[in-house]
Amino acid sequence: METALSNIEVLSPGARAVARCDIFGKPPYSETPAMLTRRFLTPAHTAAIASLQRWMRKADMSVTLDPLGNLIGRYEGSTAGAPALVIGSHIDTVRDAGRYDGALGVMLGLSCIEQLAAAKRRLPFAIELVAFGDEEGSRFPSAMIGSRAMAGLISDYASIAALEDEDGVMLADALERFGLDPASMSGTARAPESVLAYLEAHIEQGPQLEAEDLALGVVTGIAAQLRFRVSFTGTAGHAGTTPMGLRQDALACAAEAILSIEEMARQQAVHGAVATVGSIEAKPGAANVIAGETGMSLDIRALDGTLRDEMARRMMSCITDIAARRNVGVEFEQLQDLPPSPCDPALSGLLEEALGEMGLPPFRLASGAGHDAAALAAIAPMAMLFIRCAGGISHNPAEAVDPADADLAVEAMLRFIDRLEASTA
Ligand code: GLV
Ligand code: MN
Ligand code: MN
Repeated sequence: METALSNIEVLSPGARAVARCDIFGKPPYSETPAMLTRRFLTPAHTAAIASLQRWMRKADMSVTLDPLGNLIGRYEGSTAGAPALVIGSHIDTVRDAGRYDGALGVMLGLSCIEQLAAAKRRLPFAIELVAFGDEEGSRFPSAMIGSRAMAGLISDYASIAALEDEDGVMLADALERFGLDPASMSGTARAPESVLAYLEAHIEQGPQLEAEDLALGVVTGIAAQLRFRVSFTGTAGHAGTTPMGLRQDALACAAEAILSIEEMARQQAVHGAVATVGSIEAKPGAANVIAGETGMSLDIRALDGTLRDEMARRMMSCITDIAARRNVGVEFEQLQDLPPSPCDPALSGLLEEALGEMGLPPFRLASGAGHDAAALAAIAPMAMLFIRCAGGISHNPAEAVDPADADLAVEAMLRFIDRLEASTA
């Protein structure tokens, strides 16, 4: 039974975080009523910012929207202007998303600050809650734009401004329509000395915690990612009159490439490596026309960056051979290169101590999914807390989280804050 906006205040902090994610599962927080899709700089993103802003202000935070649409709520410490513990995650989603990927981390951070504000507790550091606007890369062909910019990892803002969505809208124009100034984008970068530490809570998006019968886990590190767009160029032709031996079929070529990619990744599965073709389009796209052009995505991940790069080299060479044999042209465009991001051992140790105090085993696990934390690790020590999700299912509307697990997450995060206070005293 879903909770109405007006009733959430009576819920426990974890249940409130889950209920807020549920509220964000529908319009106006979703672009369509048929499924949850909330992409960067859409009206659904504006609606999410408006509600979060209200909740942040109510919890005694001052609120700013940075030049790339990251919403920042600052809960001041005992000394104004002190460096901040940044608690963040993203509020954009994939298409036809679950309600908790990203949003839960933001709502759990909000619940923590609500607890501190209710107790009128101030810490020697500020706490900033950040709702990143683009983590998934589901609108423009680049992911983690918000967190990478905040961490100073984007040097070429002209290329970011020129990114186009599937309707041909440039990111610079989308920012302007959102009320932001594209010329100020570089102002998103933060001075590293203003960030004491970064903490992100996130659903696990995998099955390990459930298999261990555990609500929470401490993340050891985030896998390295490479993303490419692969374009095949053959010759469009008549499906009835072109003999099979004389075709340059760009779609059949992509199909053979996809199965080879899957097989090569399977061979590295023991090392935790994965590769995915999650999106493909064929042109002109008619039943009676041989495809002349096909474009597909290729996402390759491994905890070991060298293994990831070796897999990418072998996959590109294999795809090039397949295309040559089929007399089809192929081009690779690299869209993303995220290095592996180990979590900070000392900061993760504070999370483990927090779980220990709660009588929970400090179970450690790696993250195959990408997170804003990977970018923030460039400017601050970073730790991540994973929360069990039903069946390990994510990037799927069936995502589910037990509010009791979310309550444990809020408790662990508050204990982590206590320990951070003790360690900075
Ligand atoms: C984000 O969810 C990613 O891991 O691609
Ligand atoms: Mn995701
Ligand atoms: Mn996520």
